Amino acid sequence: MKRYRDIVGDGGSNIVSQVEAQQARLTTRLRDVRAIVAVVSGKGGVGKSSVTANLAAACARAGDRVGVLDADLNGPTMAKMLGVRGAPLVVGAGGVTPPTSALGVRVMSMDLLLADDATPLTWQAPSQAEAHTWRGSMEANALREFLADTDWGALDLLLVDLPPGTDRLATVAGLLPALSGTIVVTIPSDVSSLVVRKSITVARQTGAPVLGVIENMAGLFPGPGGERLAQESGVPFLGGVPFDPALAAAADRGEPYVAAAPEAAAARVLTAIAARVRETLAAARP
Ligand SMILES: Nc1ncnc2c1ncn2[C@@H]1O[C@H](COP(=O)(O)OP(=O)(O)O)[C@@H](O)[C@H]1O
Ligand SMILES: [Mg+2]
Repeated sequence: MKRYRDIVGDGGSNIVSQVEAQQARLTTRLRDVRAIVAVVSGKGGVGKSSVTANLAAACARAGDRVGVLDADLNGPTMAKMLGVRGAPLVVGAGGVTPPTSALGVRVMSMDLLLADDATPLTWQAPSQAEAHTWRGSMEANALREFLADTDWGALDLLLVDLPPGTDRLATVAGLLPALSGTIVVTIPSDVSSLVVRKSITVARQTGAPVLGVIENMAGLFPGPGGERLAQESGVPFLGGVPFDPALAAAADRGEPYVAAAPEAAAARVLTAIAARVRETLAAARP
């Protein structure tokens, strides 16, 4: 058997040029995407995915061509929240055609690839320690494939829904030719502020503008809100989305709240945030 030290270069797998080719494909593919915005939070369960789905829907309602990349490989929720779960991925000459939601949002998610609900995505490795080491690079590979091999077509906006954790944004930003901005989601609590503060630091480090902080589930907890966090961090405050059980129920039905109940307070705030984000992106365009 050959050992690693006996293998010269990439051992004939040509892996380096494969990755380079894929990265080149990714760059070509994203040339027709006018803006890429990542929705982040160091904290889980604060509503990143809900915010992403609703901002996507609100922008689509305003006439934008919108795509959503679900970068949460192990907890994908975008297909569910946008009502495309179980839709087939059609493979054509130009790559994989993503399913389109009722509002025309193109969605790519691990959820559309996994055969059943119960099996988590695992990285096979001889030991758990190695699995941990591999995870980061495997995630990057999977996301690079999603970006390079999905036939996004021309988009005004590609929203990227990130998994919780402060390190994940760096991985995604590293893959993209350019990130247009980041949106940071928090909930009114000390615990959230503590973690999300770090996310703002990481968001800044990408070099892309931090478009602002959204306080989600406003009114649910008495803790310090997103406005203070935004102020202390010197980034814009985009608004507070009230806690509203009907928003969660709509998401479970696969209907973004901004479309299902546009007059509800939470939907109005999300629609206003989407309008502001669209304006900021338009103003930043050369
Ligand atoms: N403003 C809100 N009001 C009520 N429920 C909400 C609100 N925002 C999110 N939720 C619900 O909270 C849960 C977690 O939200 P999710 O968007 O999945 O968070 P994350 O992506 O940050 O983990 C979901 O069931 C979602 O429907
Ligand atoms: Mg999520």
